[in-house]
Amino acid sequence: MGIEALALQGLCIRLGGAQILHDVTLDVAAGSFTCLLGPSGCGKTTLLRAIAGFAPLSSGDIRLGARSVAALPPEKRGTAMVFQSYALWPHMTVVGNLTYPLKLRGVAKAERAARAEHILDLLDLSGFGERKVTSLSGGQRQRVALGRALIIDPPVLLLDEPLSNLDAAIRRNLRGELRRLQQKLGITTIMVTHDQEEALSMADTIVLMRDGRVVQVAAPQSLYTRPADLDAGRFLGVDNIVAGRAEDPVQATTLGFRSVEARIAEASAANALTRHGTVLDCAYTGGGYHLQLDTGAEVIAAVSGAPIAPGSEVCVAVPAASLMAFGPDQMLLPN
Ligand SMILES: Nc1ncnc2c1ncn2[C@@H]1O[C@H](COP(=O)(O)OP(=O)(O)OP(=O)(O)O)[C@@H](O)[C@H]1O
Ligand SMILES: [Mg+2]
Repeated sequence: MGIEALALQGLCIRLGGAQILHDVTLDVAAGSFTCLLGPSGCGKTTLLRAIAGFAPLSSGDIRLGARSVAALPPEKRGTAMVFQSYALWPHMTVVGNLTYPLKLRGVAKAERAARAEHILDLLDLSGFGERKVTSLSGGQRQRVALGRALIIDPPVLLLDEPLSNLDAAIRRNLRGELRRLQQKLGITTIMVTHDQEEALSMADTIVLMRDGRVVQVAAPQSLYTRPADLDAGRFLGVDNIVAGRAEDPVQATTLGFRSVEARIAEASAANALTRHGTVLDCAYTGGGYHLQLDTGAEVIAAVSGAPIAPGSEVCVAVPAASLMAFGPDQMLLPN
C-alpha cells in the first residue's frame, strides 16, 4: 500500500455515558511523524483506537487519502497499531508472531517466510526468528511488536507509548532507531506519548491534548517556545509563572519562563525581567545548582553556576526573549 494522508474531521466519542473525545479535527500529512502528547486520561489512546477502528465514533469522519474509513472494521482500514503492552503471543516464536497478521489475511506460506525475513533484517533481528518471544529482552520484544505491525505494509502506523516499558538508555536508542526507520519507510506515523522530551525529539508535528480536546497543533520548537495557554506551558516545563509588573520588559497579566532561563544577576539587567528575593533552597543538580527563591509575592525557581547559601538576598534576571506573556484569560498573547 502507498503512503497516505490521514484526516480526522469532528470526531466525537462517548463511552459509558461520558464524552471522551470532543470534536477532534486534525490533518496528518502523508509520510509525517505526529505525536499525540497530553496528561494521563486526556484521550490519547482512545483517539488512536478510533483511528484504528477499535473505538466507535459518536460522530465525525476519518479519511485515509481520498476515502472515508470510518465505517470500516479495523482489518479493512489498513492501519496497523502497536500496543503499549506489545500483546505478543508468548507461546509462538518470533517468526510466528511476525507472520500472524499475514496468516489471518490468507497470505501463502512462502510469501510469509520471505516477508518475515525482510522484517527481521529491517529491525536488526536476523537470527532471532526461531526464538520464543519470552526469551527476548524488552527492547527486542518491542521490535518484534513493531515488525508485526509493519509486515502488513500499512499506509498508517499507530504507536501507543511503544517505548514506555523500557529503561531510559534503551529508550533513547530506540527513539532514534524508530525515527530513522519511519523516515526510511516514509510511513505516516502517529505515536502516543506523555513524555514531552520524547515528543519534542521525534515528531514533525505535536498534537497537544487536554480533556478530550486538541489544544494545540505545532512543530516541536514552536510548541516549546509558544505554548497556547498557561496549562500547555506548565505541561511543557514552564516552571515559573509570575504576575507581570509595570517595570517588566514585556507587559502581560502573567509571565511564564523556565528555571533554566532565570539566572542570578548583579542588579537589574537591561531588557530583562528581574526579581529580588531570599534563597530558600539550593540543590546541586550536576553541572550546576537549582535555586528556590522567595520574592515575597511568589516562589521562583532559578539556576546558578555556584552554590548560594539559603537566606542570601539575590536578584534573578530572565531575558525578555525567554518570557512568555499570557493575558487575563490565560491565553498566550501575540508577540
Ligand atoms: N471503555 C471505556 N468506558 C468508559 N470510559 C473510558 C473507556 N475507555 C477509556 N475511558 C475514559 O476515557 C478517558 C480517556 O482515556 P484514554 O485511555 O484515552 O486516556 P490516555 O490519554 O491514553 O491516558 P494514559 O496516558 O493514562 O494512557 C479516561 O477518562 C478513561 O477513563
Ligand atoms: Mg493511553
